[in-house]
Amino acid sequence: MSLAGQAPSANLARPPMAEEVFKNVQVLKGIPVDQFMGTMGFLSASLGLNCTDCHTEESGGSWARYADDNNLKRTSRRMMLMVAAINKEHFGGRQVVTCDTCHRGSQRPNVMPSLNRLYGEAPPEEPGDPYRQATGQPPAEQILDTYLQALGGADRVARLTSFTAKGTYSGFDDAGKRPVEIYAKAPDQRTTIVRSRLGDTTTTIDGRAGWMAAPLTDRPVAVMPLTGQELDGLRLETGILFPARIKQALTNWRTGFPAIVDEREVLVVQGDTASGGVATLVFDEETGLLTRLVRYAASPIGRLVTRVDYADYREVAGVKVPFRWTVSWLSGRSRFEITDVQPNVAIDSARFARPAPSVPSGR
Ligand code: HEC
Ligand code: HEC
Repeated sequence: MSLAGQAPSANLARPPMAEEVFKNVQVLKGIPVDQFMGTMGFLSASLGLNCTDCHTEESGGSWARYADDNNLKRTSRRMMLMVAAINKEHFGGRQVVTCDTCHRGSQRPNVMPSLNRLYGEAPPEEPGDPYRQATGQPPAEQILDTYLQALGGADRVARLTSFTAKGTYSGFDDAGKRPVEIYAKAPDQRTTIVRSRLGDTTTTIDGRAGWMAAPLTDRPVAVMPLTGQELDGLRLETGILFPARIKQALTNWRTGFPAIVDEREVLVVQGDTASGGVATLVFDEETGLLTRLVRYAASPIGRLVTRVDYADYREVAGVKVPFRWTVSWLSGRSRFEITDVQPNVAIDSARFARPAPSVPSGR
């Protein structure tokens, strides 16, 4: 009763599938571990639950205990099959009904329409759904040209080919900030290291493959391969640091209708990633600068959405670079603030190799 059915991406070394790494996977078979963990975030966000709510109390301290079943977990499996059946029987197999359609962030879906929702303020607009070229709007390339101009001009942008940066990182429920180091090289190599006494978290993309090495207190696998549309998304985020080739970063570009985001007028363009993901770029109409990226990767149960909000652009080698950004996804939020940027430095290629497993530093 597996829900897989997506063609695996053309990976040279096939990443291990969830059922090969975990002990009790019955429905979400045939997907790589990063996507499986993404679906766990999707379940949590759609039902407004913490990880341990659907897993047993003991799972808090042990990844092995996540294999144990409880009632919510069993019900969730049934619901996954129910949703797949609804989409198949009623929507021609299009994934239009997901957990979120009914649950909307609560464990028990509403039975009665909410009067608060009816008369309350609508939640702010969140661009990111796929759309077609909007009538009367300029081609996306025109908006991207304005962006390059706003950054300092295409020539200067093309001359920024690498940088290293230091700064701080804070997670959604972190009390303090942790040191972070970033190494980036055009067009698509990047390593981010978040330092911690429990062990560093290193996210690397070498241009083709990607990995995340995190302490086992945080993730169930020591070095998790990043795959498919998620990997495309990370490659795009790296490309945005060196946007000279931004137009080649996505295909099938289209412009949406102008919108209001965070009380600013914005222009919205969208394109497809190499493995069929969708990414939306939001530009401040007045400054021409990129303020938001929304991208998602498909999964058997729904879209795994990630958003990056960029702020505090400052000049580095004549090019405006965001010094602050926040990455939000379905099971976490990370704030980055960089302070010390060294442009156009040589970076050892070993920096972009598969990271070693994280070990406690004992510092
Ligand atoms: C709404 C319920 C629900 C929530 C919330 C949830 N899970 Fe799960 N989890 C499941 C179900 C159901 C399975 C089994 C999937 C299957 O059989 O295909 C599972 C399986 C797992 C497994 C595999 C365990 C094994 O060895 O078989 C891990 C690891 C896991 N979840 C981690 C997490 C993490 C981390 C979170 C929080 C981000 C989380 N889960 C949130 C329902 C949930
Ligand atoms: C078509 C609407 C609908 C969709 C889609 C849906 N659910 Fe549900 N779900 C319900 C309803 C209704 C209930 C409450 C049933 C009841 O009260 O007996 C429920 C209950 C649950 C419960 C039990 C909650 C409790 O407190 O006992 C879990 C867990 C759950 N759903 C998980 C999921 C997951 C995971 C998905 C996506 C794979 C999902 N649901 C999709 C309608 C839906």
